[in-house]
Amino acid sequence: MIIQVQSPVLPRPFIKWAGGKSQLISQYVSHFPKDYQNYYEPFVGGGAIFFHLQPKHSLLIDINLELVNVYRCVRDRAEDLIDRLENHHQQHSPEHYYQVRAQLAVSDDWFYEGINLDRAARLIYLNKTCFNGLYRENSKGHFNVPIGSYKKPAIYDPEILRADSIALRAAQIEPGSFAQILQHAKSSEDFVFFDPPYYPISATSSFTAYNRYSFSEDQQIQLRDVVTELSDRGVKVMLSNSDCPFVRELYKDFNIHTIYATRNINCNAEKRGKITEVLVTTY
Ligand SMILES: C[S@@+](CC[C@H](N)C(=O)[O-])C[C@H]1O[C@@H](n2cnc3c(N)ncnc32)[C@H](O)[C@@H]1O
Repeated sequence: MIIQVQSPVLPRPFIKWAGGKSQLISQYVSHFPKDYQNYYEPFVGGGAIFFHLQPKHSLLIDINLELVNVYRCVRDRAEDLIDRLENHHQQHSPEHYYQVRAQLAVSDDWFYEGINLDRAARLIYLNKTCFNGLYRENSKGHFNVPIGSYKKPAIYDPEILRADSIALRAAQIEPGSFAQILQHAKSSEDFVFFDPPYYPISATSSFTAYNRYSFSEDQQIQLRDVVTELSDRGVKVMLSNSDCPFVRELYKDFNIHTIYATRNINCNAEKRGKITEVLVTTY
């Protein structure tokens, strides 16, 4: 008799996010600190590093309210979210896509009224069916990507959502900007990973338009000052960014490692290729 043992599904990103780090983890592994108690990720995005590390105590922050809501729904209401995603799966068609896309939030009030399963399911559905799988908002904060041409898009995987729900069980997930981290990370027991919108290395490589808040050069400098303050407190800090003279100059007082990446979200197939990025560590 053959007994099939199903391997448990490992937690991993449930959405595809611009700048996702899944492909780079193998190069990051040797740079993670060995011991820490608390994990902080202030630009959580798709959360690839969080799901890889599965820290016991964590605080995840992002400025995007739709994203914070979706994480909270996965953590607290995974089964209800799965039901709603199954509905989208069954109804999927161009008409359904554009009808869901048109459900815009006129203000941020919905977020402060409590966890919102419909908006969370909408975000995952659009993310998995839109062109290039790239979540992009226009200057008004509206998701405006056309439908993708996938024949049978995999809108959700219930096992990944359940594994992620368990991984997120003890995570605190808050809306806000990265400097908020200074109120929380205070000692060598703390590890902060920053994956900010990258400094653009050419006019066409600007992936900084994740949402209505663009990430300016001043904010890159403010972020470096936050890293310095944390480092002075003994906090272990790791940060990724593009490989360019501006970024290397900003972080010249810390360790700078070179990472080899493949540009994987680019509409122009010819521009996909190997580029380098930097990984800064303060320890
Ligand atoms: C590069 S992505 C993170 C990618 C992520 N680490 C992953 O593996 O998918 C950057 C994230 O930072 C968020 N963000 C942009 N400006 C921010 C700010 N000022 N403070 C906090 N988060 C911000 C964006 O909403 C986006 O989710």
